[in-house]
Parts: sequence; structure tokens; C-alpha cells
Amino acid sequence: MEFSYINPTQIEFGQGKINKISQLIAKDKRVLFLYGGGSIKKNGVYTQVIKALENHTFFEFGGVEPNPTKETLDKAIAFGRENKVDYILAVGGGSVIDGSKYVSNAFFYEGDGWDLLEGKFTPTKALDIGAILTLAATGSESNSGSVITKGETKEKRFFHSPFSYPKFAILDPYVLKSLDDRQLVNGIVDAFVHTCEQYLTQPHGALAQDYYCEGLLRGLVELADTFESRDDLWYANLMWLANQALNGLIGLGVPQDWATHFIGHELSGLYGIDHARTLAIIQPNLLTILADEKKDKLLQMGENVFRLNTNNSLDVVEKIRALYSSLNIDLKISSYTDDTKIIEKVTSLLEKHGFTEFGDRGTVNKAVVVKILEKSI
Ligand code: NZQ
Ligand code: ZN
Repeated sequence: MEFSYINPTQIEFGQGKINKISQLIAKDKRVLFLYGGGSIKKNGVYTQVIKALENHTFFEFGGVEPNPTKETLDKAIAFGRENKVDYILAVGGGSVIDGSKYVSNAFFYEGDGWDLLEGKFTPTKALDIGAILTLAATGSESNSGSVITKGETKEKRFFHSPFSYPKFAILDPYVLKSLDDRQLVNGIVDAFVHTCEQYLTQPHGALAQDYYCEGLLRGLVELADTFESRDDLWYANLMWLANQALNGLIGLGVPQDWATHFIGHELSGLYGIDHARTLAIIQPNLLTILADEKKDKLLQMGENVFRLNTNNSLDVVEKIRALYSSLNIDLKISSYTDDTKIIEKVTSLLEKHGFTEFGDRGTVNKAVVVKILEKSI
């Protein structure tokens, strides 16, 4: 175990916290208020933000899409430069917050912001970001990751930057109540798979990380089991569990996998499938194929998360598949697209993006991806 750890994002958790932005953002800032397709105008969040910013100078930019595109975000950069903004307030789910990270890091760069995603540009300065989270899933509100799509080529890529940690994140669980079942399910699944990508690897003996992961996974299973009878605490638990699953803590000093995510990102880029749904499709099939090499951790998960008494790692994979099915997720790519060239397209994009031998042991190569996709179509 060896790591450096800092998570600088101030978390403000609880109902009614949105008005705190009036204190959290300095009064002399010129704020770029970034949001998505308009859900915030229907659920009262927009009104709360406008009220809280009444003593600030701010400029609105709406229309950041789910799976945000660099094309839209480049427009936000131009708009922000025109108005000489020096702070970004991101109000939305992972897409808006990820988008704000692209805008922030590319803001002072004269080249193409996509260079961030290709590792050709490392920023030395950026705009500060504050976040109001409206969808619990990605953990983007207090991590340094950002996933952006290039509409022109349908490539979906990610970058990390120390500037991308929001200065603060407002987590008001009440805001989640306007989410439909589909997005709530997405939240459970994304957080579940984030935890698995840092847990279902190989034995490492780091007890805090292992047992914390198991706690998060048990919590998420409980939320899935009580989905139909959810109360206020259910939403608060989802918001905090999803945050903890990808705020950097559970992956410290331990092997990580992320193969499901890398394959899933190509599927979202190509076909616009919701991020979490790509994970629910791919992960059980990936685990089926890697059930032997992941046997130890799968059996540990079976015992400590599902309370399963088995020596067969495939039984645990079936529990995971059943969990996703219980949330009414279509687990076949063919439910989302008629394309007949899925395998060719996904494998060639993975190769282009440098994913030729990945997973925590480097065993996920093209042949393995083909097998996973054959099971997933
Ligand atoms: O755009 P609006 O109108 O706001 O509607 C959104 C969007 O249509 C809606 N929504 C959000 N909050 C709502 C709401 N509707 C009603 N009430 C609310 N309170 O939900 C839809 C989906 O929003 P989106 O932000 O796209 O969802 P999510 O938070 O799942 O983010 C997904 C994106 O994050 C990336 C994914 O790849 C995807 O692009 N990820 C980011 C990560 C990170 N930064 O660490 C890690 C993840 O693994 C993931 O890859
Ligand atoms: Zn994810």
C-alpha cells in the first residue's frame, strides 16, 4: 500500500443548502452558470440558484447534453471568454459537472480543448469550479475525472486534472426527487460498478479499502431492494453512497480494473446509451469470462455483500446480473441499436484509444473484448 491522498472539495450536504453558494462564491467573481437541458427549470433548482446569486454578476449557459460534447462546451468557453468570467458554477448531473471541468481546464488554452482528452495538453492554470449536484451517480462532484464526447467522431474519452476538483459541492438529496426511475436506477448501477472496479480485482489485504467497498455495495443493494418504497433517507443514502464510491478513497493503494468502464464508454460514444446501462450490460459478461482470475474477490463479495454460501464464483456473477435485472434494465446492446458492426467498431475504437491489454492484470485484450461483446449483443 502506497499512496498520496487529498480531496480538496468542500461538501455541503442537506436540504436547503443551495443558498450557501451566495457565501461560497466570492462576491467579486464573474460567474459562468452552466447547466443542462432544462430539468433545473422544472424542479425549482434554477429559481434557488438565481435567488442565491442575486448579489453576484453571472452569465447563464444552458444546453450541456447528457454525454457532453466538446462542440457544445467549446461554445461555453467562447461565451465565458466574451463575458470575462472567472468562476464556473456547474448545476446538474455528471455531464454538466464533467463539462465544467473541460471548460475550466481549456479556458486559458489557445489550442483545441480536445487536446486535454488526447493527453497533448496539460493545463497550468484553470478556472475554479463550484458544483450543485442534481443526479447522484458519477461522483464527479468531488473527483478529478471528466468524460467528454467528440460529436464529430463519436469518441468518448476521459481526462484527469488537479484543477478539476470542485472547490465545493452542494449535495441536497431533496433535488433528486424529480429524477425518474431510469435515472435513479442509473445512479445505483454506476455507483455499484465504480465500487466493483476498485474491489473486484485480486486479493491485496488492504482492509479499510476492502471492507469500506463491501459497506458501499451492501448499501447499494439495499437501495435496489427498497426501490419501490423509497423515503427521504433513501435519497440521502443514494447521494452519499454514490459520492463515496468515486471520491478517490476506496481505490487508494489497491489494484483497480475499469475495463467495464472503458468498453462502456465506447458504447455510449457510438450509440448514446446511458453510461450506467452500458456498465450493466458489459460487467456481468466480463465477470463471467474472468470468473476464474477474479475468483477470490468474487467469492469474498458473495460472502460479505450477498451473504451467499458458495464456492462457485459464477454464482456471485449471477447475483450481480439478477440485481440489474431486478431494476428492469435491458441487458442486451441490441435493445438499444440495430447496428450489425458493433464488435468491429468497439474493438477498433478501443485500439485507437490505447486499450489493448487492460483490466487489473492486463488480461483484457481484443480476443477477450470480442467474447464479452458476443455475449452482450
Ligand atoms: O440535462 P438536464 O435537463 O439537466 O437533464 C438531465 C439529463 O437528461 C437529467 N437530470 C439531472 N438531474 C435531474 C435530472 N432530471 C430530473 N431531475 C433532476 N434532479 O438526467 C439526465 C442525465 O444526466 P447526466 O448528467 O448525463 O447523468 P449522470 O450524472 O449519470 O452523468 C453521466 C455522465 O458522466 C460520465 C458518464 O460517462 C456520462 O457522460 N461519468 C463521469 C465520471 C466522473 N467524472 O468521474 C465517472 C463515471 O464513470 C462516468 O463515466
Ligand atoms: Zn461510471
